[in-house]
Amino acid sequence: MVNTDDGTPRLSEMVRDDGVGIFKDRDLLKTSRIVGEERIVGRDEQMSTLVTLLKPLIHESSPPDILVYGPSGTGKSLITSRVVNEYKSALTEQDRDLAVVEINCQWLTSNFQACEKIAEGVSDLDRVGEEISVSGLSTHKALSETFNIVDDRYDAAIIIVDEIDLLVNPVKSEDEEPAFSALLYQLSRMDDLIGFDDMSVIALTNSPDFMRELDGRAESSFNPRDVHFPDYDANQLREILRKREDAFFPDVLGGDVVPLSAAFAAQDHGDARKAVDLLRTAGDEASAEDADMVREEHVRRAQEEVEKDRILEIAHGYSSGKKTVLLSAAVIRAWSSRDIEAIPSPVLKDVYDYICKAIDHDPKSKDTLLRYMGEFETNGLLDSSIKSRGLGSGIYKTFKLNRQPEYLVETLMERDSRFDGAMEKKDLVATKVDKALEDFYD
Ligand SMILES: Nc1ncnc2c1ncn2[C@@H]1O[C@H](COP(=O)(O)OP(=O)(O)OP(=O)(O)O)[C@@H](O)[C@H]1O
Ligand SMILES: [Mg+2]
Repeated sequence: MVNTDDGTPRLSEMVRDDGVGIFKDRDLLKTSRIVGEERIVGRDEQMSTLVTLLKPLIHESSPPDILVYGPSGTGKSLITSRVVNEYKSALTEQDRDLAVVEINCQWLTSNFQACEKIAEGVSDLDRVGEEISVSGLSTHKALSETFNIVDDRYDAAIIIVDEIDLLVNPVKSEDEEPAFSALLYQLSRMDDLIGFDDMSVIALTNSPDFMRELDGRAESSFNPRDVHFPDYDANQLREILRKREDAFFPDVLGGDVVPLSAAFAAQDHGDARKAVDLLRTAGDEASAEDADMVREEHVRRAQEEVEKDRILEIAHGYSSGKKTVLLSAAVIRAWSSRDIEAIPSPVLKDVYDYICKAIDHDPKSKDTLLRYMGEFETNGLLDSSIKSRGLGSGIYKTFKLNRQPEYLVETLMERDSRFDGAMEKKDLVATKVDKALEDFYD
């Protein structure tokens, strides 16, 4: 980098510096990148199950609907996309055309929005190339019109509905069916409705209980075959990263960078997205300081960055009441002078009430507190177990945080000025935490 007289780099240089010394192909470490088969590790079984289930495509009949489920970062989107696109090429070789439409439900809040996305996806298909307008139509009509067009121009269709459990209407009444349920019901009935029987739905979800959350009529019309994607172990994560080492110039990666990134990601439920994110962020850290190599210290800093980003992403959606509960749990681990592994629920309630007072917030009941903790558990922030204090003394729950408590506290505090009051009284809160633990254990 060219420096000015006083040694600081010029703005023009800073802006144009692409960290070329480190990355040869940084995009290879973008998590949205659909990598080739030669870079895929440890998903032979899932891939071959998907291939078998979709095989009817080759014989001009229609495959079953499929439910792909497993935790975050286990390759569901990647593998599904690769297999389906391979079928698309195979059908082209037979002079047949497969329509592949993929939508992600992450930011959608109604069945109608999902139908709009599907219509948009169909508009973009090679053989369509014209805008299909569905505004003002019922969801039922929107889908019929869209799939009539697909039926006209394609031999078969696969609709991939990614992150389907996130398709929920944020304000819905108790007895209203969830948006994902309505969508699946309608998609699975295209055959009856417009006589289009060459369509299969592949729904992807993190939720192992997804089928139980479906409304009765969706449950009876959508009968998918399951494909389960389990977590990766540290060895598989290491292999996944090894196959992307060519994102860097030769000899730029320190020997412990890949194993350490894999080890950090293995702690986090064996999540390949996290592993890939870590490796890229470690490279960014090294580039940012003009280092000639990526070293262990860069991975450690990257771990801190990535960890905070993810907490933020998850906690972003929580109400301030829930954030206070999460903060209380994190504070017990982060500020206590005792090294406890799991947080007993009575201690949590005690400290939570104290923090509520410090920030002038009405405390919720114990039941609500436990319900929130249950939600954090579903989101992978913690694990709980039930403990007994011995005969006649009742049972309680304990919580183990899956995120570094210090980062949790920092991230929540940074983003919410309401917590300033707790920070100002840090010493008092810490004393309260120790006291609550002492009362409980001693
Ligand atoms: N078996 C694998 N081999 C190589 N890379 C993988 C593998 N599995 C996942 N990855 C990489 O990890 C990242 C996350 O994978 P993917 O998006 O498929 O996860 P997912 O299961 O769909 O997660 P989510 O539930 O969060 O959507 C991607 O960058 C992907 O390329
Ligand atoms: Mg995915």
